[in-house]
Amino acid sequence: MTPVETPLTARQSGPVQGRARVPGDKSISHRALILGALTVGETTIGGLLEGEDVLHTAGAMQALGANVKRADDQTWRIRGVGIGGFANPRNALDFGNSGTGCRLTVGAVAGSPVKATFVGDESLRTRPMQRVLDPLQKMGARVLEVADGGRLPLTLQGAADPIPIVYEPPVASAQLKSAVLLAGLAAPGETSVIEAEATRDHTERLLRHFGAKISSKPYGEHGRRIVLKGQPELEPARILVPADPSSAAFPLVAALIVPGSELILEAVMTNPLRTGLLTTLREMGANVEMIDRRDDGGEEVADFRVRTSVLKGVDVPAERAPAMIDEYPILAVAASFTEGVTRMRGLKELRVKESDRLAATAEMLRANGVTVEIEGDDLIVQGKGRPAGGGEVKTHMDHRIAMSALVMGLASENPVRIDDSAFIATSFPGFVELMHSIGADLT
Ligand code: S3P
Repeated sequence: MTPVETPLTARQSGPVQGRARVPGDKSISHRALILGALTVGETTIGGLLEGEDVLHTAGAMQALGANVKRADDQTWRIRGVGIGGFANPRNALDFGNSGTGCRLTVGAVAGSPVKATFVGDESLRTRPMQRVLDPLQKMGARVLEVADGGRLPLTLQGAADPIPIVYEPPVASAQLKSAVLLAGLAAPGETSVIEAEATRDHTERLLRHFGAKISSKPYGEHGRRIVLKGQPELEPARILVPADPSSAAFPLVAALIVPGSELILEAVMTNPLRTGLLTTLREMGANVEMIDRRDDGGEEVADFRVRTSVLKGVDVPAERAPAMIDEYPILAVAASFTEGVTRMRGLKELRVKESDRLAATAEMLRANGVTVEIEGDDLIVQGKGRPAGGGEVKTHMDHRIAMSALVMGLASENPVRIDDSAFIATSFPGFVELMHSIGADLT
């Protein structure tokens, strides 16, 4: 079936106001399903993100033998098969647009004696998989088939007796770290991951929540050394997924740039490895207050009060990238509403996201009258105060480009149109309705 392209246009809107709660965190949702599937007994998940990416992971866990059900009260119940207990799936596991679902499941399958084929959509088929296969092969998994350049489709034979390793990822990637840790669950002894740059730690936190022994200590200036004791008895758990800060970023920036706005975003996760955007926006002069900070299911959350702000250009250091890796397109939109220059450093990894996100972000801004340059791995945006808009943005199957461009159109001089809004549903079902409810003009 060829997906239907659904264009959407954003127009200058009145103030963005009221209260909103964005859906559950995508990273935690994938991990909760996978760990539930690796645990004997019933795990329940509240607030699961019901976006297409996560639903593909739910389908994969079901195909690997877990029982995955959505109850009437909207909680999800997983009866898992235990570490190493996956069954051979009858069909290829389809991850759609989702790199996270695919790479994490490749890790989990590597520690089970099963054979599985992994497939994905046109965007996912361009993304590098060799980076996860390298350490998993050292752990004993065998790659039976893989497309040129280490891409999907690939077929993996998981290891009956995985070998624990000490692994230093060549790139800062939570997916890579998590794939190794998930395979390490089935290995005897200790599996270690040494990160030069700390990345989001949801896998480590959830493993602890399920009763695994895992330590995480500072390493070097920005890194961490993570040690997992293999073959734990995972205990079925209750998980409450907090609101996704990467989704909250869109209404948040909308409130900053649309004149006269005041918006409350409820219960947004404030895990320090995810708050790089907030740090940067505050340096730019954004008025974002955190109110009622509290603990919610093992993660800290807060309500954010956001008011329209006069923003200035800033220099964003490369070492901040892991804590805001998915937020550069929306930061680039905020930067185009400043009067100064914003330089975002060290964005090499953006080239291998759902699209070449570095190129797609620059293209999005240029189409709307903003001067932007790519110098090496840096993105430099020349603020316009208020950009002209009026462009048609190619979204390249990338949900974050789609949502960023629409936010831009709420405050630019002229409307901004995107060619295809379909991929927004991968991470943020209900985006258009939520934006309408706070005053955005999207049609
Ligand atoms: C994610 C890690 C990041 C991020 C992705 C989600 C995760 O990818 O871009 O959206 O849940 O582990 P990398 O690990 O490739 O940096």
